[in-house]
Amino acid sequence: MSIEVKNLIKTFGDRTVINNISFSVNNGETLAIVGFSGSGKSTILKLICGLIQPDSGEIITSEGDIAMVFQYSALFDSLNIADNIAFALHERRDLRNKYTESDIRKIVTEKLALVGLKGIEEQYPSELSGGMQKRVSFARAIVTEPNTILYDEPTSGLDPISSTLIEDYIVRLKEETQAASIVVTHQMSTIRRTADRVIMLYDGKIVFEGTPDDMLRQDNDYTKQFVTASLEGPMKMMA
Ligand SMILES: Nc1ncnc2c1ncn2[C@@H]1O[C@H](COP(=O)(O)OP(=O)(O)OP(=O)(O)O)[C@@H](O)[C@H]1O
Ligand SMILES: [Mg+2]
Repeated sequence: MSIEVKNLIKTFGDRTVINNISFSVNNGETLAIVGFSGSGKSTILKLICGLIQPDSGEIITSEGDIAMVFQYSALFDSLNIADNIAFALHERRDLRNKYTESDIRKIVTEKLALVGLKGIEEQYPSELSGGMQKRVSFARAIVTEPNTILYDEPTSGLDPISSTLIEDYIVRLKEETQAASIVVTHQMSTIRRTADRVIMLYDGKIVFEGTPDDMLRQDNDYTKQFVTASLEGPMKMMA
């Protein structure tokens, strides 16, 4: 088991955003987390990577690096693309002396090629489109060869071809590294192409758990409402 979440509770003020949630992800498995805006998807990822602390519950991850691909690219504006991608290799004490500068240049070029962006090493984030920034942040996250990878809406705002590229890469990375991955997404193509299992959040709870095919079968009120994007159903948008 590579990610195990047990009885997780997280409140912000008087709102219980995560209300006693448990699930696990095996090595070599990708779990999709879906749910309306504000249902707590990003919060779960931030709890798993330790950016925020739970009120109670347990999170167990296997040893090794956890990488997070943030919902908003979060690149460093003052660093060029090469330095953004190489950031962890330069800054992390355990990695700093592992690679020579020429190794690092090679790794950066290789990661950029993987996300379909060659030759932009010297450019700055502000010179790139939103979708390009997103792909750079993807390259940056995987530079440490992590064994737990958390993707927060990796394909939102991307054109269909760039989405496919990222989806294929999520699958390839899983197959090559046997990492345990979680993909938060609204995009049906991303769920179908990358996920082995899906959980749906609503009102702080898991209201559905199954395969993408189970979800598309729409045989419960929650999956039906989500898949048909209907205003009618058990889930109400919160103000
Ligand atoms: N640091 C925080 N302080 C206070 N409230 C927060 C904080 N982070 C998240 N929340 C609240 O928790 C709820 C869940 O937020 P979260 O970002 O996890 O939603 P989400 O499912 O990722 O939504 P989206 O699809 O819009 O990205 C929201 O009501 C949000 O306002
Ligand atoms: Mg979010």
